[in-house]
Amino acid sequence: MHVALIQVSPPDDFGWMSLGVSVDITLAAAQSADLVIAQVNPKMPRVLGRSVVHVNDVEIIVEREEPLITARATPESESANKIAGHIQRFIEDGSTLQISLGTSPQAVLLALSEANDLGIHTQYITDDIMHLVSRGVITNREKGFNPGKLIASSAIGSEELYDFLDDNPGIEFHPSDYVNDPGIISRHNKMVSINVAMEVDLTGQAAADALPINLYTGVSGMLDFIRGASQAEGGKAILLLTATSKDGKRSHIVPSLGDTAVVIPRSDVQYLVTEFGAVNLFGKSLQERALAMISIAHPDFREQLFKEAQAMGLLGTERRLKEAMLGVYPASMEETVVVDGDSVMIRPAKPVDERRIQEHFYSLGKKDVIARFFHEKTRFVRDEAEGLSQIDYRKNLTLVALVGEFGFGRVIGVGEYLLDETTNIAEVAFSVSSDFQGKGIGTRLMIKLAGAARGNGIAGLLAYTAETNDGMIRLFNTLPYVVRTNTENDILELTCRFDEIDDRKDMPDGQT
Ligand SMILES: CC(C)(COP(=O)(O)OP(=O)(O)OC[C@H]1O[C@@H](n2cnc3c(N)ncnc32)[C@H](O)[C@@H]1OP(=O)(O)O)[C@@H](O)C(=O)NCCC(=O)NCCS
Repeated sequence: MHVALIQVSPPDDFGWMSLGVSVDITLAAAQSADLVIAQVNPKMPRVLGRSVVHVNDVEIIVEREEPLITARATPESESANKIAGHIQRFIEDGSTLQISLGTSPQAVLLALSEANDLGIHTQYITDDIMHLVSRGVITNREKGFNPGKLIASSAIGSEELYDFLDDNPGIEFHPSDYVNDPGIISRHNKMVSINVAMEVDLTGQAAADALPINLYTGVSGMLDFIRGASQAEGGKAILLLTATSKDGKRSHIVPSLGDTAVVIPRSDVQYLVTEFGAVNLFGKSLQERALAMISIAHPDFREQLFKEAQAMGLLGTERRLKEAMLGVYPASMEETVVVDGDSVMIRPAKPVDERRIQEHFYSLGKKDVIARFFHEKTRFVRDEAEGLSQIDYRKNLTLVALVGEFGFGRVIGVGEYLLDETTNIAEVAFSVSSDFQGKGIGTRLMIKLAGAARGNGIAGLLAYTAETNDGMIRLFNTLPYVVRTNTENDILELTCRFDEIDDRKDMPDGQT
């Protein structure tokens, strides 16, 4: 005989008792058991939704008041805060969130305190979600489905949270067969799923619920949300991963998962975020995936992972790991500017940009290619793009300007510097796609490069260009320093030093 032991709130005037903080699988258990024994606990909040059982459907009622299990917030962690910093920008106002339990998701919610009109369709409601409701950040107004209602199937948190749930018409709990249904999940506007992976291999397969010998959680509902979010209009599936174990001794990015069960197949993984950055694996080749995964691994493990990737045939043996690949991506340099209504992201290049940089060069017109490379050129081989995308962000820095969705954006501008250590002067070069020229992108790239070079202890900049290249000459002159020129064999050399300010020039924005 199947027996269900359930805990419920006291019956209302019509005999309905609420399953309170845990509706997820409890309702199904109560409906399918031969014998239902219900503990009526006055401390159980009366949560609304498809969350009730009737006294007539219960065989035995036991009255007993006792405190519900509570959970305290996990202590803050630096890694979690860094991860949260990277994903904040993926969550647009008006998004509907599913967010799992854990330190990193908690940090993500804290980081969203300035967002607007977020909605919730998730498994667990927590104190952090309640706080965002109190602040007016979560309104559930823009969900596009179940508008105005916060939907969950369980709660875990403080007594304050349980009080907040009691008879709250803005909150509905539903069983898992509804909340976890990818068809239901995909009906929300900008549905964003945020979950935590335990280990991810170089191809992007994620382990999430178990280590080889002991289960960490029960069977995970993560894949339901990842698939639902992927299918939703404007949806995103995000996986968070701390790059290493707490003691820093073990990388969570591994060559292969071995005996650990795959919870999210590589074909379903989209955004992956560690303390070292974010990548979008969707639609990427195996080689691109391996490079992307290595680029967000902890720098101490990148060399080993690179070698293993080569041994596994994921990366070509002709590739060399540049010292630069060990650089830590300076996310603080990211900036979004609006150009003619297009949102343009200007940021340091990453190893995953290799192909996009090649494509940018291939898209340049003949004249621009000559202006940038001083000769006609029809091939932009991978090695060149590799040199621009695998950078140490100090001695060599490439900035890219991108339009379009994260992970698929089109590079419409490239600005780079390369330090000559003997002179401590860095040479700069630029190219902006013709449809974006004359719109200030070159200037923005120049100002950011100069600021970074100065910050990295470099003494000044140098550029070579044709005497007739007015655009480049004017671009160099946008810097607030004295510009010296020298012409040799029709090539104009422009130089400036950061300690020689030209008083006649204005300081551009972003320079102090
Ligand atoms: C040179 C280049 C990078 C400038 O980028 P951009 O995004 O168009 O530059 P901006 O819009 O920020 O403009 C920078 C300055 O150049 C001027 N400018 C831009 N294009 C120009 C052109 N075709 N002719 C004359 N001046 C031009 C702008 O008016 C501005 O000067 P101002 O501030 O005095 O008004 C871009 O034209 C390009 O990619 N050219 C081909 C490659 C190249 O020449 N690279 C330089 C050698 S490394």
